[in-house]
Amino acid sequence: MIVKPTLYLTVGLPGAGKTTLARRLAEERCALRLTPDEWMAPLFGDGEADGRRDILEGRMIWTAHQVLQSGAPVILDFGCWASDERYAIRAIAESTGAGFELRYVAVDESERRTRAQRRWRESPESTFLMVDSDHDQSLAQFQPPTADELALTPLPAPPSGSENWQHWASERWPTLPRLDLDIATEQSP
Ligand SMILES: Nc1ncnc2c1ncn2[C@@H]1O[C@H](COP(=O)(O)OP(=O)(O)O)[C@@H](O)[C@H]1O
Ligand SMILES: [Mg+2]
Repeated sequence: MIVKPTLYLTVGLPGAGKTTLARRLAEERCALRLTPDEWMAPLFGDGEADGRRDILEGRMIWTAHQVLQSGAPVILDFGCWASDERYAIRAIAESTGAGFELRYVAVDESERRTRAQRRWRESPESTFLMVDSDHDQSLAQFQPPTADELALTPLPAPPSGSENWQHWASERWPTLPRLDLDIATEQSP
């Protein structure tokens, strides 16, 4: 029997507990876990590094696509604050025939900030210092998943100007090639 793999996407604000959940899922489901924070600090010493996070995430989605095609599960431990980003990643997973699970992690706001601070004290190498104004900014930008999104109702149309979600994704993450096209060899981003 062929079991279709699943792409798990962790969603939520910093400190909520996404990576903790992602680690558990990786063990339970024998899944590859891709956590950008664990790469940004060692590679660039900074959480954003002038847009390099987008570069890294694009390659991680591309890797996740290959992993799913190989039949194995994968976790993108991204946070994904914008619903369009989540729709695009879901479309990419489903285009391979894989399942998709959105794992939204939310906790009380003061608890989240306490956790983020504790994590910074305990493992500064895999995280970034966040002060209250950073948390305020994240909270203002975050688009919590709606009930429809959590229920995986049919995907909405992509924003105007994009033929499909894969197209939108390759513009959002420039190192991600157009995964809906039959690209024999990789195109330049
Ligand atoms: N359910 C929980 N209860 C208490 N502390 C938790 C829980 N989940 C995570 N933590 C702690 O909170 C901090 C942030 O968790 P983490 O998984 O790194 O969050 P995120 O990846 O969402 O930023 C870590 O120190 C972690 O050990
Ligand atoms: Mg994390």
